[in-house]
Amino acid sequence: EKYLVIHGPNLNLLGTREPEVYGTVTLQQVNERLLAEAEKNGVELDIIQSNDEGEIINLLHKHRSLQGVIINPAAYTHYSVAIHDAIKSISVPVVEVHLSNIHSREEFRKKSVTAAACIGQISGFGYHSYILGLYALIHHNQL
Ligand code: DQA
Repeated sequence: EKYLVIHGPNLNLLGTREPEVYGTVTLQQVNERLLAEAEKNGVELDIIQSNDEGEIINLLHKHRSLQGVIINPAAYTHYSVAIHDAIKSISVPVVEVHLSNIHSREEFRKKSVTAAACIGQISGFGYHSYILGLYALIHHNQL
């Protein structure tokens, strides 16, 4: 079983980027914790960060034979019909995750155009959202 984590734009700066909103844990630390969880559950995990919408779409296409994708589309969440369509175009189960609770922030963050293409959304648990996303996919695949 193999899964992919896609971190969207600006998440490379996690740890120093608006720490009051996103916390002080760096992307590398998040990735280390994710890899440890994957190992504990006997699954393989690839992790990629991209600031580019087209690259994220290509990544989804390229990994369409995996067992699942955990994606934080970051700002693209709120307007990328192209990422929505890319998720719809593949049959891999995709879980959308957010560090912050997008429903408790600015009005423009409350709407996710990408979540409707996913099997579900996890939002508001800091980096644990990613770990919960991995568990959600493992559980989904066991059903
Ligand atoms: C985010 C929430 C988005 O609104 C924002 O643009 C991000 C990060 C989150 O993980 O909380 O970049 O996806």
